[in-house]
Amino acid sequence: MDFGEVVRRRRMVRHFADEPVDRAVLERIATTAQRAPSAGFSQGQRLVIVTDAELRRRIAVACGELEDTEDGFDPWISHSAALFIPCVSEAIYHARYREADKVGEDGSEIEWPVPYWWMDVGCTVMLILLASVDEGLAAGFAGAETDGYLEIRTLLGIPNDFSPVGVIPVGWPLPDKRSPSLKRGWVPKPEFARWDRW
Ligand SMILES: Cc1cc2nc3c(=O)[nH]c(=O)nc-3n(C[C@H](O)[C@H](O)[C@H](O)COP(=O)(O)O)c2cc1C
Repeated sequence: MDFGEVVRRRRMVRHFADEPVDRAVLERIATTAQRAPSAGFSQGQRLVIVTDAELRRRIAVACGELEDTEDGFDPWISHSAALFIPCVSEAIYHARYREADKVGEDGSEIEWPVPYWWMDVGCTVMLILLASVDEGLAAGFAGAETDGYLEIRTLLGIPNDFSPVGVIPVGWPLPDKRSPSLKRGWVPKPEFARWDRW
């Protein structure tokens, strides 16, 4: 699919057929996701890909799917083909930026005016979303409350130095209830993109 079409077609889908997707397709999405950039090529990003039905159900509960269905949404997390859970390790960035080519002359790490680990895992998220569309599938994104993230960590055995940032259900799209947030509309382009100065 043409890149522009992939970008235009991408939207957060919240209703999927409860049907599997070939493992080879999920592997290709993971391969694309690994191409995300990372500061200093730290590569602190990791993925957990869940297809097991019972695990998907428990992760959906951790993300508040029951509350979503009370609000009229479909069970879009448990009834997807796979859940991609991107994780990132801040510790990997600190270790990388203490290496000889990155460390300051006084032996100090940079001050991290921008926490690049969050930026990098965001790039990973976007590649998963776009790669899913490119495969003729769709994807969404579910965050969780603090306890939900802890539950996801426990369910999947994610080590303490990695943070899961959310859950990306991937699967065959069905007609869905749109987010009420979309009523906000897009920010006008001149406000978004400014030329030469703010
Ligand atoms: C960091 C982040 C967190 C989000 N969390 C949720 C969420 O918990 N539940 C949900 O239904 N959508 C969530 N969304 C999806 C947004 O609501 C959606 O991206 C936005 O409304 C724009 O719609 P679109 O992506 O379909 O264009 C999240 C998106 C991002 C980027």
